[in-house]
Amino acid sequence: MNEKQGFKSSIGFILASAGSAIGLGAIWKFPYIAGQYGGGAFLLEFILFTILIGLPLLITEFAIGHLGKTYSTTIFSKLSHQKFTNFIGFWGNFAAFILYAFYSVIGGWIVIFFGYYLLIATKITEQNMNFFDMMIQNPLLSLTGQFLFIMITGLIVSFGVEKGIERASKIMMPLLFILFIIIVVRALTLDGAMEGVKYFLIPRFEDLSFKGTLYAMGQSFFALSLGTTGMITYAAYSQKDTDIVSSSSWIVFMNLAISILAGLAIFPAASAFNIEATAGPGLLFIVLPKLFNAMAFGLVFYIMFLLLFLFAALTSSISLLELNLSNVIKNDASKRKTYAWLLSIIVFIVGIPANLSFGLLSHVQFGAGTIFDNMDFFVTNIFMPIGVLITTLFAGYIMHKQQLLHAFRKKYGFTHIWYYLIKFILPIVIIIVFITQLYAV
Ligand code: PHE
Repeated sequence: MNEKQGFKSSIGFILASAGSAIGLGAIWKFPYIAGQYGGGAFLLEFILFTILIGLPLLITEFAIGHLGKTYSTTIFSKLSHQKFTNFIGFWGNFAAFILYAFYSVIGGWIVIFFGYYLLIATKITEQNMNFFDMMIQNPLLSLTGQFLFIMITGLIVSFGVEKGIERASKIMMPLLFILFIIIVVRALTLDGAMEGVKYFLIPRFEDLSFKGTLYAMGQSFFALSLGTTGMITYAAYSQKDTDIVSSSSWIVFMNLAISILAGLAIFPAASAFNIEATAGPGLLFIVLPKLFNAMAFGLVFYIMFLLLFLFAALTSSISLLELNLSNVIKNDASKRKTYAWLLSIIVFIVGIPANLSFGLLSHVQFGAGTIFDNMDFFVTNIFMPIGVLITTLFAGYIMHKQQLLHAFRKKYGFTHIWYYLIKFILPIVIIIVFITQLYAV
């Protein structure tokens, strides 16, 4: 990576990687998966996985990127001088590509909702609250949304204006935070909110299941962009003086905070409006219009929310496209535009069946559910955990300890604990979660 392509300051790197992490995972996915897999019990597992596994892993991915400074399909052999290790990069790239294909479906929903509430709806009325159902039944509309979402991402990446987006995220992210706090306050003061609060915050251990554990682990990787080499790619652009430990801690903290705020907005509101917490991927899109409708200036706040939500999703889709693109163009900037568009078009085509899973193809059910559910299941619960596993094995067994420790700017007392965790504990935990799955089905 030459200096020109890299981030000028470490704040640029932190903003970009925080932008990659915080997105649909925390805001849209976490509440609906928690709703399906036991509420409080899921929350507890998710927090444990995020702190005990997600954080050490994020530090590991940052260390690899920071030391290797190149695109992720050659970085592994550059660090280890063993060619075969590059398959870790290919694995992650493939996972990210499929992830982007279904991610863009939800990104498209936000585009359509934003357009609708900004340009067409003048109030949040009962009829508008059913807009979600109308949208997913209408393939032309939902595909247009997905197409636009991919094109906006492609436009930003092809012009290489991510830096401007990162600077904007300095304002947008705190605004999103504040807006979330406002919505949470409103949700908690609704009649009948308590039931949802209890469901979300109080773990009922009888709700713990092997399947829930796999989903909680997958969710912690998804929300931190781990196992796809996304974070490795961003760290490869980082400056020498970057403190990977404090950056990782910040990102983990913000991600947890946004996830919990999203849960505290959705579950109380769902119980107050009699919506099942198990409603699935549409949960947020069904609950939030009702919640904003119960607020003064609801429409204005809702449009603001959708804009900030779209922004958060875009900073993640940018990282998904960027990580694939950097491996296709391999430092040749003249190829950037052409390949950014080409990849975008292919992603859209691969994403079409995922989109239609909510309408025309909703009857196609197998394995984990619809085509969308299966794509999500494979990426989040199989590809990402395996990606994470091979990355930790690489760091623990192929790289040398001294080599890894060069990534740390300061001497931290806990680096030995971290090393012990990634070398012994994390691989074992991931393997155990997998094995218990085999017996659970
Ligand atoms: N972490 C992102 C989100 O939660 C999704 C993502 C995963 C982005 C993997 C990049 C790589 O929305």
